[in-house]
Amino acid sequence: MVDAILRRSKMPVASTAAYTPFARVLHWLTAVLVLAMIPLGFIISNVQDLPGQDALYDLHRSIGVLLLPIAVVRLAYRLPSAAAAGGHYGCSALGCRIGALGRSMPC
Ligand code: HEM
Repeated sequence: MVDAILRRSKMPVASTAAYTPFARVLHWLTAVLVLAMIPLGFIISNVQDLPGQDALYDLHRSIGVLLLPIAVVRLAYRLPSAAAAGGHYGCSALGCRIGALGRSMPC
């Protein structure tokens, strides 16, 4: 149903082929690192006297600090192509889809 709405909206819809290997690697790297941060954060904040707790904290902090430049690289890599895809001032793929859904709703 969402597909039908998106097709009617005539909005450019990014297919998986639109994502380069570099973008995919960064996407999955971000996903793995963010998902690792959550249990790490809960462990360092809730478990006391765990052997290697300092190392876990260092790992949590290092991954957290690494995620910021990764996000910046992803944005810098994505923005030019997003802006070129229809002149939507760099709206994200999700933003475009939400916009398309909104325009397709009867008032
Ligand atoms: C994507 C998710 C997360 C990111 C990017 C992130 C990032 C960070 C960073 C960069 C630090 C180091 C801060 C510093 O040294 O000043 C930190 C510390 C910490 N994080 Fe996270 N974190 C995340 C999720 C969580 C979660 C889910 C928890 C707990 C439920 C958590 C608990 C903590 C604690 C307890 C510290 C130590 C704070 C302190 O030293 O005062 N984090 N986190």
